[in-house]
Amino acid sequence: MYNTTDQNSPELNMDHLRQLMGQQAQRRPIFENIAILGCGYVGSALAEYWEDRGHCVTGTTTSRERIASLSTTLSKVVLMRGDNVTAVQDLLQGQNTLVVSAAPSGSQEASEVDYEATYLTTAKNLAKGLKQTPNLTQIVYLSSCSIYGDRQGSWVDETSSASPLEHKSQVIYESENIILQAANEHQKVCILRLGGIYGPDRELVNMFGDLAGMTIPGKGDRFINWVHRDDIIGAIDFIRCNELEGIYNLVDDSQMTVKEQVKLVCDRYNLPPVNWDSSKLSNRRKSLQVSNEKIKAAGYELIHSQLLV
Ligand SMILES: NC(=O)c1ccc[n+]([C@@H]2O[C@H](COP(=O)([O-])OP(=O)(O)OC[C@H]3O[C@@H](n4cnc5c(N)ncnc54)[C@H](OP(=O)(O)O)[C@@H]3O)[C@@H](O)[C@H]2O)c1
Repeated sequence: MYNTTDQNSPELNMDHLRQLMGQQAQRRPIFENIAILGCGYVGSALAEYWEDRGHCVTGTTTSRERIASLSTTLSKVVLMRGDNVTAVQDLLQGQNTLVVSAAPSGSQEASEVDYEATYLTTAKNLAKGLKQTPNLTQIVYLSSCSIYGDRQGSWVDETSSASPLEHKSQVIYESENIILQAANEHQKVCILRLGGIYGPDRELVNMFGDLAGMTIPGKGDRFINWVHRDDIIGAIDFIRCNELEGIYNLVDDSQMTVKEQVKLVCDRYNLPPVNWDSSKLSNRRKSLQVSNEKIKAAGYELIHSQLLV
């Protein structure tokens, strides 16, 4: 077990992850300069994983108070925002791989302006910066399955059209396109569309536990797609090693309704069950089943194919 003082990446089990990923192909140099724009929940754990394997990782944060804890594991920590074009250009210099894992920070729900700055302006700055950094040959951009919108429970894959429900998902989709258009023969761009992220310190019991014993409007028949943080790290490294490009979904195999997921959590933690009141309409409408066949066909094997509760 590798312990860190950063609250966003507690006790990542490096040996376990390494063992599970040991069979993967390796096309890229063994040791690289890697930049991670946005060292939050995913980015800081990914940085720790790569530092542990000998890469030189530069990670970014927008919070001065996070610099000290991130510096315990990263080669270099930069205080910056992606909407600062000069800071982005400086970050990209000398890097071989870039992972974009930025999302608006803060305890309050982010405004549309924050979303546009964090995703759209950052994407435009990255597209400019990539033109000046030909040695940066692999870009992995973390996006979201929210861009598919509501499919009333039916399946989507990477060929399905985007149909974002909210402005925020629309912004993420536009940012994807800006980054994709920056790709060229030597600079590969891979978009990873993630389901809801869970893992250490973001356990499902913390998301669903409050519902225990309550009566919830609706049938609970919406499908929610999840992905464990270990698989995000595993898939990003797989993309880097195999120089993948284009769009890939990343969710687990569980394909369960919210009712089934909540039951799993309540049973596991001996919590009172949730009652679903099907005489009332649910106030949530998004339901879809996301296919992960493309990334599996490329050779990625999920570490956590079923929900961990
Ligand atoms: N959370 C989900 O369930 C979910 C689902 C689908 C996709 N995603 C995507 O997955 C990625 C990783 O998510 P996460 O949960 O690890 O996010 P997170 O924990 O909120 O971390 C986001 C990181 O982005 C940084 N940041 C905030 N505003 C920024 C800006 N304007 N420019 C540059 N960096 C900025 C934050 O800085 P500080 O260090 O100062 O906080 C933090 O380091 C994101 O791209 C997100 O959109 C998330």
